[in-house]
Amino acid sequence: MPDNDYVAILDFGSQYTQLIARRTREASVFCEIHTPDVKPEELKKHRLKAVILSGGPASVYQRKAPSCDPKIFDLGVPVLGICYGMQLGAKLLGSKVAAAADREYGRTDLVTKGSDKLFRGVPHESQVWMSHGDKIEASTKEFEVLASTKNCSYAAVRHRKRAFYGVQFHPEVHHTPFGSQILKNFLYAICGCRGDWEMKSYVDNAIAEIRRTAGKDHVLCALSGGVDSGVVAALVHKAISSRLTCVFVDNGLLRKGEAKKVRDFFEKRIHVNLVCVDASAKFLKKLKGVSDPEEKRKIIGHVFIDVFHAAARPLKQVKFLAQGTLYPDVIESRSALGGPSAKIKTHHNVGGLPEKLGFKLIEPLRFLFKDEVRRIGRELGLSEELVKRQPFPGPGLAVRCPGPLTQERLDVLREADEIVCHEIEKVKLNEKLWQYFAVLLPVKSVGVMGDERTFQDTVSVRLVESLDGMTADWGRVPHDVLATISSRIVNEVKGVNRVVYDISSKPPSTIEWE
Ligand code: XMP
Repeated sequence: MPDNDYVAILDFGSQYTQLIARRTREASVFCEIHTPDVKPEELKKHRLKAVILSGGPASVYQRKAPSCDPKIFDLGVPVLGICYGMQLGAKLLGSKVAAAADREYGRTDLVTKGSDKLFRGVPHESQVWMSHGDKIEASTKEFEVLASTKNCSYAAVRHRKRAFYGVQFHPEVHHTPFGSQILKNFLYAICGCRGDWEMKSYVDNAIAEIRRTAGKDHVLCALSGGVDSGVVAALVHKAISSRLTCVFVDNGLLRKGEAKKVRDFFEKRIHVNLVCVDASAKFLKKLKGVSDPEEKRKIIGHVFIDVFHAAARPLKQVKFLAQGTLYPDVIESRSALGGPSAKIKTHHNVGGLPEKLGFKLIEPLRFLFKDEVRRIGRELGLSEELVKRQPFPGPGLAVRCPGPLTQERLDVLREADEIVCHEIEKVKLNEKLWQYFAVLLPVKSVGVMGDERTFQDTVSVRLVESLDGMTADWGRVPHDVLATISSRIVNEVKGVNRVVYDISSKPPSTIEWE
């Protein structure tokens, strides 16, 4: 557990709670998300500087509306309520909350009053993002109004006696252009945070923690070639060097040249003990004739565990498995409010391995968001190529090749995918896109090449923008780039005579095709 200034965020179910945490971390302040039933004493164990109450879909006057222990106002640190959090805070401090006559959603203009520290450096009029149906009906005896909008006279308030601030709008979303400034003002000017959350000290602490946990024992790490497992491996290697062994399974579903790149980097550049297993034939054999997407994912998961198990068995001295679990996975797995959401796809990573193999876990990234992992990667000297790598699903190209898989089809897909990646990176669109890849469709169509009729495969190009992979929009990229990708694929990839561009957003589609 990092020993930094600490901000506790209580999650009342808003879709933006993780964003509040990310903005706080971006302001160099460490924070964690808690369920609303967290005990105030629990928070006192940290160097607590502030509590933030998130937004949420409920209405505070509903029966069973989520609440928190009112003693959080007695912890001696300022509390900021955002949207639902503001209404809840007002209610817990004895004010009235009612349904607003005019609901307000989306962009609106905020006008500040006076010169409270919360709005330091924020223009008198600025845009904010609203999404609420309730309002507080507090008297100005209790609250000082710091800002208002056309439909909301209490858009930002400060309690006159208690250190409680409330904002009806969402400072954490980027549609509130001065939102980060407002959050920073709260953290620094009001709560006295020092900004001591930095990656260098995180790396030092994580290394010390890994050494303490592993003692004299050996650690195993499953390398996938992705950012998370790469950073974990580099971190653990820095901590215990030759007592780390990495296993890299080539499942035959990787992108072109990937297996070699992983090998070159980890074996030759940072000298990690690396066991490479080429299990592509085994994966392909088990996947033969399988078209159902969930079936494919399950088979890949099972074969992976078997192969990894067999590779780990001879390493008798290993007691720990290092995994790249990130903070969003930690929050999602314990979210009390989220409830059981429908399973859309079985995500396959290395989950299930520790139980099967009886390892203890080392998860040095479990406090971090993805962008922080990338910063750690740079801190550890990993290549930009690895650090900036786009997310790649565990089941790899299998979920980008609808229908039964064959070696030939996978090879065609690899060639097309390489062209997409190359052309996108050439014009630096990779900095704007979340993912960019090719999908090989199980559809043949008629074409004409030279004077010949052709009847060949179709490649779909998927370029998406996203902040976190949860929602996504298709990339509005220049037509010239699409034209180059299309003509190169048709000219250079044997067996493909048509390229289509996927213009579906998520939802209702998903990013991957299966
Ligand atoms: P979907 O297709 O559900 O994907 O919109 C959302 C994000 O998750 C990635 N993805 C996976 N990542 N194991 C992973 O580690 C998986 O099994 C998996 N399936 C999808 C996908 O690439 C996108 O970034």
